[in-house]
Amino acid sequence: MGAGNVAWGGGVRPAMVIQRAALRVNVGPVSAPFDGSSLPVGPVPYSGPERRAADRGHSPIVEVRPTYAHVDAAALVDNLRAVKRHVGPRCRVLAVVKADGYGHGAIESARTFVDAGAWGLAVSLVEEGVELRQAGIIAPVLVLGGVHPGSEDVIVHRSLTPVVWAREHLQLLAAGVRRSGAPPLPVHLKVDTGMSRLGVLPGDLQALLDWFEGDEGQYLRLEGLMTHFACADEQEDPVSAGQVELFLASVATLAIRGLYPPLRHVCNSAGLVRLPQAHFDMVRPGIALYGAAAGAEVELTGLRTAMSVHSRILGIRELPAGARVSYGHRMTLARDSRLGIVPVGYADGYPRRMSGQATVLVRGHRCRVVGNITMDVSMIDVTDLPDAREGERVTLLGAQGRERIEVQELAAWADVIPYEIMCGISKRVPRR
Ligand SMILES: Cc1ncc(COP(=O)(O)O)c(C=O)c1O
Repeated sequence: MGAGNVAWGGGVRPAMVIQRAALRVNVGPVSAPFDGSSLPVGPVPYSGPERRAADRGHSPIVEVRPTYAHVDAAALVDNLRAVKRHVGPRCRVLAVVKADGYGHGAIESARTFVDAGAWGLAVSLVEEGVELRQAGIIAPVLVLGGVHPGSEDVIVHRSLTPVVWAREHLQLLAAGVRRSGAPPLPVHLKVDTGMSRLGVLPGDLQALLDWFEGDEGQYLRLEGLMTHFACADEQEDPVSAGQVELFLASVATLAIRGLYPPLRHVCNSAGLVRLPQAHFDMVRPGIALYGAAAGAEVELTGLRTAMSVHSRILGIRELPAGARVSYGHRMTLARDSRLGIVPVGYADGYPRRMSGQATVLVRGHRCRVVGNITMDVSMIDVTDLPDAREGERVTLLGAQGRERIEVQELAAWADVIPYEIMCGISKRVPRR
């Protein structure tokens, strides 16, 4: 129950109603306690905007707010092709679609990438893998986040491909396969070559391989060997080359035992640009596919930002010089101003930390965001655009005319990385 709600008469009522009664403020006639029975809830036939949302495959929740994110599927295709061109025809592409496709919509992004030639998909969670399977996607789905007790049956049942690095992972999965009678489950073994996060440490690799040679090993198939770069996107990277060396040593350790997993993969977006010697059999790009560089030094040519975010001016406020704006009154208008009220705020993933720095596009011009960004609303200065009026299109990310706001710019204003901006565009911003 939200903080602003209290249980009342067996239902949930806004706390405001209680406060009014307690303070004996005259707020007009009070009708009989509201029991909600007249509300049109439940499976009423939906129409208009509800219908349109449902037609596009979204749940039939009404979509009337003017704030939305547009995902350009053609840009996703072009980006995948740019990666494929770069790595060449013998290297597969595993498209990373975790975190709802970096905020772009996992199902739509996954379908687009697979149709455009990705070999498979990577997610972090079993739940994310199941979402793709439920949407009818049959491409290989790698689950990067490990095997949690209780997840083994669904992994087997949904034919997900888990990344493993611990004996417990192997035992759980072998038991799941045995129970189901399914054929050996493909798994990818992850070696920790320097990220110090997930993966078996090189010193513990032999013991894990012993397990594969034991009785239970028959239930699993070692399809892949992988590692992950820690610093490939750093300006200076003295680390990745050493990680590749350690990875090659692991490949050799497996080979001595007669194990040759057909998919050796190491590179994220930055790695595939910087370390061509580490492309091996497959690369695992995420951010590049959505059109952003992992870091200033590692941009792949031909990428196009796939996501743009737009809204409309809800109303114009004419205020005199000296007026103070938004929460905390941190901003004082230096001149007589026209402010556009835009229904987008930090609850939409437009970070409050950008207050005082961000700009948006209106009629192809940059307008400053003034005062603190609030949960649902931001104020922009349209004084220099006297024709700007209510209903005017506002672009927060993406292009308008010749001007363009890149995700890197938003990230710099918020002092975060572009990944956080993309993943942070919240669920209440419809993707169109
Ligand atoms: C194991 C693994 N591989 C690949 C990626 C994709 O990385 P990027 O988005 O930098 O290309 C990630 C993302 O965090 C990851 O965790």
